[in-house]
Amino acid sequence: MSKPLVSIVDVRKNFGDFQALKGVSLDIHAGEVMCIIGASGSGKTTLLRCVNQLVQPDSGAIWIDGELNAFRIEGNRLHHLPEKEIARQRLATGMVFQRFNLFAHMTALENILEGPVRVLGRPRAEVVAEARALLARVGLADKENSYPANLSGGQQQRVAICRALAMKPKLMLFDEPTSALDPELVGEVLQAMKALAAEGMTMMVVTHELAFAREVADRVVYMDGGVIVEAGTAEEVLGNPQEARTKAFLAAVLS
Ligand SMILES: Nc1ncnc2c1ncn2[C@@H]1O[C@H](COP(=O)(O)OP(=O)(O)O)[C@@H](O)[C@H]1O
Ligand SMILES: [Mg+2]
Repeated sequence: MSKPLVSIVDVRKNFGDFQALKGVSLDIHAGEVMCIIGASGSGKTTLLRCVNQLVQPDSGAIWIDGELNAFRIEGNRLHHLPEKEIARQRLATGMVFQRFNLFAHMTALENILEGPVRVLGRPRAEVVAEARALLARVGLADKENSYPANLSGGQQQRVAICRALAMKPKLMLFDEPTSALDPELVGEVLQAMKALAAEGMTMMVVTHELAFAREVADRVVYMDGGVIVEAGTAEEVLGNPQEARTKAFLAAVLS
């Protein structure tokens, strides 16, 4: 198999005395869709935040496309990267949150342009064409001039996905992207994510949507108490779980 796009090695993270991640290791290959499931408080969000460096692990290492997060290796020494370099590394990942976090005073199109134009300094006209293509892909071609307040939650989340994609990330992180949505709006967001997966995007998706995981995930990871309890194909983890904790979690979710 090829070298992993993302390599997470024995990552630990404490908040005070509380151990949120107790040594998590995971490889994600290019084009792979990994769904992460687990009860609230199990460390799923912290893991995603470590990958895109919204938090730094206390120990362990995360490699993205051959680059070590937050450190430069010189001989056998590690040097902390300056914040500017970390900001550059952060651009390798796009993140979609439970709450869409769109800028309320900007239209859908302006929300998507903001990063490429302001952060990357790309020519606006060029980015506008790309942003329109992204909106069309998620079925929102007619909404480019709408403000978030005039979009449904599902539409706002699809704009948020476009905004992340406009930065051309190597990897997309989704943290419960549908759990704040009314039930009838969940499907349209999952549909956009499915299309993205089909195009070969590498994705880490924290979700409670087990039907989505079964259909789209190449791998499912079950976390509990800051560790990976079980990982495998969707068929293995969801269809034939081996660990008692996984079985109990699935029984509770499906009941
Ligand atoms: N910034 C923080 N400060 C203190 N505790 C935190 C912080 N972030 C997360 N935690 C704690 O770490 C644990 C794991 O949180 P999280 O990664 O958000 O879990 P999940 O996403 O699986 O619900 C929780 O008990 C949470 O309260
Ligand atoms: Mg969470």
